[in-house]
Amino acid sequence: MGTRGRVVLGVGGGIAAYKACEVLRGLTESGHDVRVVPTESALHFVGAATFEALSGNPVETGVFTRVPEVQHVRVGREADLVLVVPATADLLARAAHGLADDLLTNTLLTARCPVAFVPAMHTEMWEHPATRDNVALLRGRGVVVTEPASGRLTGADTGKGRLADPAEIVDLAQLLLARPEALPRDLEGLRVTVSAGGTREPLDPVRYLGNRSSGRQGYALARVAAQRGAEVTLVTAHTGDLPAPAGVDVVDVSTAREMADAVEHAAAEADVVVMAAAVADFRPADTAGHKIKKTDDGSAPTVSLERNPDILAGLVERGRPGRLLVGFAAETGDEHGDVLDHGRAKLARKGCDLLVLNAVGEGGAFESEHNTGWLLTADGAERRIPLGRKSELAAAVFDAVADAVRDTGPGQ
Ligand code: CTP
Repeated sequence: MGTRGRVVLGVGGGIAAYKACEVLRGLTESGHDVRVVPTESALHFVGAATFEALSGNPVETGVFTRVPEVQHVRVGREADLVLVVPATADLLARAAHGLADDLLTNTLLTARCPVAFVPAMHTEMWEHPATRDNVALLRGRGVVVTEPASGRLTGADTGKGRLADPAEIVDLAQLLLARPEALPRDLEGLRVTVSAGGTREPLDPVRYLGNRSSGRQGYALARVAAQRGAEVTLVTAHTGDLPAPAGVDVVDVSTAREMADAVEHAAAEADVVVMAAAVADFRPADTAGHKIKKTDDGSAPTVSLERNPDILAGLVERGRPGRLLVGFAAETGDEHGDVLDHGRAKLARKGCDLLVLNAVGEGGAFESEHNTGWLLTADGAERRIPLGRKSELAAAVFDAVADAVRDTGPGQ
């Protein structure tokens, strides 16, 4: 499922251009029709034949081919999304100032659909006042310029300026196709803490009590918050090889108690805390220091459990005025009420400001790319979130967060 669209994939002339091939692949595999428009210098890094083979569409860089088709206007007009991967400092400058000296920059001026730049450059170039001003100009016009990742750059150096992970770029593109208004810069100046994944409570050195949380919803929340301008800390437990969202500080933990420490530490400075993790309520009372062995008499050991801290309840208890707390709950209906009844009761019991409620088994949640549910607020409002990608649900959550912060102001 998802919104299928016509995507213009602009490719700038930087070494990260080779990763545009993976983005292209991800988009076509999701059913989108992709037209690649590289700059002339991008073709120093990846040949036109590669883009043509992967997209199934012709590749041109200039405005003087197929002139009767008026390509310099048509390509932009027909697009549902223009995505530029990688956006170099030069390309951002040309776009910010409305230059139109090749097919890509012409396309940027004629497109009326969402436009997103995914930058990749050396830290010095990203931080240079010229680039900062160009990025601010573009964002001020409603253009999405994503935060780059930190890490290894070309050569031996590391720092901010690395291209976001291709899977993350594909996800952001899908989000913008489904919800063109999903990434406003409305969380700038806010500190957001997100928890993700499922804790593991050790029984012995090889066994643990765990759960099926994949962490995808928490990662989508962190990614969307960062791209909306927040300073994000993601506290994550056992999320496999999900790529770290660009521009996000990631803290790895394992058990509920480790998660409690890390979340409380980050939350001390946070304006918003989103508890998307599946935290184990119980842990084995004793952890064996050696592997528990079978015995000859055929008996099985008894495991006694003890309670873990309730992290969200702790944050509510030691609440700070102005800090917004968002909880998650997966519920089923039973003889005491339906999913919404249980959600409302949990919101009241937990005392958080917002609760994202999933109906277990309703086409989403665990291990899926998709999710659906309701958004319940402490003032009694309820909003249905239709089935969509987890980043769409994340955008709906941060719409509500941004509304709430606008009403009360951060740190009030
Ligand atoms: N949560 C938490 N610490 C825990 C358990 C849960 O912070 N030890 C958070 C979850 O991250 C989620 C919310 O509390 O945001 C609700 O989780 P859930 O497991 O549904 O809540 P419980 O209070 O444990 O409810 P139940 O008795 O239905 O399991």
